[in-house]
Amino acid sequence: SIATPIQNLTHVARRVTQESNFELQAEVKTQDEVGVLAVSLNQLIQRVNTLLKEQKAEQATRLLENEKMSSLGQMLAGVAHEINNPVNFIYGNLIHADEYIRDLLEILELYQEKILDPPSEIRDRAEELEIEYLIEDLPNLVNSMQVGADRVRQIVLSLKNFSRLDDTEPHPVNVQECIESTLLILNNRIKKGIQISCQYGNIPPIPGYTGLLYQVFMNIITNAIDALLEIPESRDKQIKITTECQQPEWLVIRIADNGMGISPENQAKIYDAFFTTKPRGVGTGLGLAISYQIIVEKHNGKLTCDSQVDKGTEFTIFLPLHPTAEDASSATPANCSTC
Ligand SMILES: Nc1ncnc2c1ncn2[C@@H]1O[C@H](COP(=O)(O)OP(=O)(O)O)[C@@H](O)[C@H]1O
Ligand SMILES: [Mg+2]
Repeated sequence: SIATPIQNLTHVARRVTQESNFELQAEVKTQDEVGVLAVSLNQLIQRVNTLLKEQKAEQATRLLENEKMSSLGQMLAGVAHEINNPVNFIYGNLIHADEYIRDLLEILELYQEKILDPPSEIRDRAEELEIEYLIEDLPNLVNSMQVGADRVRQIVLSLKNFSRLDDTEPHPVNVQECIESTLLILNNRIKKGIQISCQYGNIPPIPGYTGLLYQVFMNIITNAIDALLEIPESRDKQIKITTECQQPEWLVIRIADNGMGISPENQAKIYDAFFTTKPRGVGTGLGLAISYQIIVEKHNGKLTCDSQVDKGTEFTIFLPLHPTAEDASSATPANCSTC
């Protein structure tokens, strides 16, 4: 009778499920239908086994990446904090230095005006020191120091916001500020013939996670820069960023480049973790996977991509203007009276 071989198969199938032991295999005793069934069962068990192993490996790498990112974030926050104090010190004192210098110059001018014939010792020394040039240059010098210090302050502030990975609940986020700060941090990568234009709509603050949104802008803009570095030097290279309020629901952010574009078959994979077309060590394939998670899961938003090979790519981020009912308790409602 066939009862025994089938019972045998059922027994193996049951043990595999109950014990989660995917190393088990059924014995193939016959070449009839039951034999075929046994072979199929074995293949199925092996397939599950391989998939599970792959999944575990992927999880391990993902954990490691997350770990790396959060320690990098902590380091950034630490560095930003340490730089913050001395920079504010310089910036604050420069304001006074500027005032004092103006006062001194005023007095000097007054001397020059009232004492028309100074002793030769003073006149000679003034000439030696090229005092006229010094008077002219000093205010410019202080001014550029102020601009520089202000820039450092802004970068430090951006880094502090950027590394705010530890937000546990949504806070009002100024998206425009986020974008501007991201561009500031990316500044040294942007120069190479790439033009960035921003058109900001009248957008209200939205409830969200600042540090995470920074990461999204950083990832998408970095990808746009990478795409523009792939096209010939001579072509004109543009990144266009726009924001608008789409009442009643969405804050819409578009980031478009005229880079090399994404082929239709790759478009289906760009959000997969570890999918990258960049050389090892350059691409991690995590940028868009993480961005997708942040926008869709963390913010209940949408992330879409529109791309044409050789024409360019546009990513559109939709963020809810108002928190939905279930997370309304923890989120600060957006004030949308401005748009
Ligand atoms: N703006 C873009 N233009 C062209 N290709 C892009 C663009 N953005 C993303 N891609 C494609 O999607 C892939 C995945 O992006 P991402 O997840 O950020 O990983 P990575 O940048 O590390 O490769 C990239 O390797 C690239 O092939
Ligand atoms: Mg990337």
